[in-house]
Formats: sequence, structure tokens, C-alpha cells
Amino acid sequence: MVYNFNAGPGILPPEVLEDARRALTDFNGTGLSILEIGHRTPAFEAVVSEGQALTRELMDLSPTQEVLFLQGGATTQFYQVPMNFLAADGHAAYLDAGIWGSKAIKEAGLWGGVEVVGSSREQGYRSIPRGYEVPAHAAYLHITTNNTVEGTQMHEMPDISVPLVADMSSDILSRRIDFRRYALIYAGAQKNLGAAGVTMVVVDRAQLDRQVRRVPAMLDYRQHVENGSMLNTPPVFAVYVCLLTLRWLKSKGGVDAIEAENREKSAMLYEALDSLPVFRPIVAKEDRSGMNAVFVIDDPALEKSFMDRCKAEGMVGVRGHRSVGGFRVSLYNALPIGHVSAFTELMRDFNQKH
Ligand SMILES: Cc1ncc(COP(=O)(O)O)c(C=O)c1O
Repeated sequence: MVYNFNAGPGILPPEVLEDARRALTDFNGTGLSILEIGHRTPAFEAVVSEGQALTRELMDLSPTQEVLFLQGGATTQFYQVPMNFLAADGHAAYLDAGIWGSKAIKEAGLWGGVEVVGSSREQGYRSIPRGYEVPAHAAYLHITTNNTVEGTQMHEMPDISVPLVADMSSDILSRRIDFRRYALIYAGAQKNLGAAGVTMVVVDRAQLDRQVRRVPAMLDYRQHVENGSMLNTPPVFAVYVCLLTLRWLKSKGGVDAIEAENREKSAMLYEALDSLPVFRPIVAKEDRSGMNAVFVIDDPALEKSFMDRCKAEGMVGVRGHRSVGGFRVSLYNALPIGHVSAFTELMRDFNQKH
């Protein structure tokens, strides 16, 4: 038995993997692999349009929000967003709450002025900045809703008048938020959405009108929208796995149902972390992530011993990010609650023995 707590690419539902496996040799009874059909065939166009429709439904998007399946990962969005929307003499506001957000800040600086309106860098990114003000002249405010590396998550969304742009790579579709509130959302698929190689972008048409410079076609959101997310050959397999994952989420009851399960999973894990003295959760309690729980064991010998126990019991992906150390347990949508209880059982046993 393997328990997959990887931070990304992360665990996928077994049903999704099984359907994906089947499509590799026979896609929808065509006798061809999903890898062998043209992307402009009705069969694949149906994959894209169903994926877009399901995203709209699950996120309850407004009719003016467009859904795109792009390439280049969330890291491409770090520069594609400012390239399109931040003028050389303009300013964009950024919240600096983790290493991924700080990379976005660095890329934005290549295109125009950046105002870091709030930062928790000095505190090792162990909390979400609060009490920040966003200047009315900002082209947009960029936030990271879940900080995958540090294990913090925004539980209150900013109430601002400027367009809101969010990196939701590690918590998209894990909880109910007002997705209509966002001018642009992006998420690498490899955590809650499917396979690496595709990035979901949701962009409001009003935001498209705020483009500030001419950009190459592949980086132009408008051209992707006009071409129905088929400006060039899309990563067909990754888009298909995304569709399968969206179907799976719908069959589970959608975002509200998965949120209830996710809450149960994270409550179970944090309860163990708070009550067992061997383990020390390190982020501010009110900002804890429901997707990535980060903690340490202060004694290096015990740390090694716990890592060995995890390995022996098939618990994979629990090592913390190299910049933080310690442990990180990821609780993405597809992780069954039984895997969390198996992990907390192991924690209790380990705590008792030490
Ligand atoms: C919040 C966040 N943003 C951006 C990235 C980078 O994504 P990609 O590797 O798809 O470029 C990650 C990857 O883990 C992430 O967790």
C-alpha cells in the first residue's frame, strides 16, 4: 500500500487514472489512442468544450469569464500576466506571502512598477500578511491563495476595487470561493486538476480589454480566447486528464462536497499535530493551509527516525520543501480520508514510542 502525500504532481483519483489508461489505447471506442487523434477533430474539440463547461459549472463562473487550457505552467503566468496587463509606466500590487508569489513579483518587475503591499518574508512566510492597502491606481492585485511550500492559505479574500489576479495552483476547486470576483485566475494542473503540462486560466472579458502592449501570439490571452484554447496543438493528454478529474469532482458532488471532505482531512491532521508533543506545526494557526500541512520535529535524530518510519509504511512525499525542511503533508482533493487517518495513526504511535 502506498499513501501519496506528494505536493505536486500529486495524487489523482484511481478512476481518473483508469480512464486515462484506457484512453491511451482506445479513446472513446475509436480504436485510436488519445495521443494519436488530431486536436481539431470533433472528438478532441468535445474534450475541450466539456472541460470548459464543467469548469464553468463547478466554479460557478459568470458568462463573461473565459476558460483556457494553456501551456508553460503557472511559472509562465508569472510573466504572462504583467506582460499583458502591466504598463512600463504603470504599477501592479503584489502580496508577498511565499516563495511562489515572490517569483511572480520578480517576473512582474521586468515589465513595469511593482508595489509589494504586504509581506511576511521577514517572518519566514509563516503567516498571510494582513492590514495592507492596495492603491487605487494599481493595474491589479496579485495574490497566491495557497502557499504550497510554506503551508499557509488565504481564508479571507481581499476586498478591493482593482482587478484581482490569483495564483490558485495548489488549492483550486478545493473550497467554495467567489470565483466571479477574479479578473484572472491561473493554476498549474498537477495538484487538484490533473496532469502536469496544462495550466488552467480563467480570465474575464473585461480584463482582456486592459491589455497594455502587443505580445507574441502564444502569450496573448485574447488570441487564445478567440481560438477557443486551440491557438496551437494543446497538450492533448494533459487536457484530457483534466477533463476526467473535473468529471470525477462533479460525480463527488462538486466543490461544496469536496470542501467538506477536505475540512475533515485537515482537521484530523492538525488535531494530531496540535496534540502530539513530538510534532510542531510552524505556521500561524489562523492561516493554516487545508492543502499542505507543514511541520517539524525538533530533534534531528527523531526527524530521521520518523522519515524512516514513513518510508517503511509506504507514506511517500512527506519531506518538506528543500527551502523549509521538516515535513509537508499534502491533502489534495483526490486524497482519501483513510490515508489521513493512516498517517495520524502512525504519528500517534511514533509519539507514544518517543
Ligand atoms: C502556488 C504555486 N504557484 C506556482 C507553481 C509553479 O507551477 P509550475 O511548475 O506549473 O510552473 C507552483 C508549483 O508547485 C505552486 O505551488
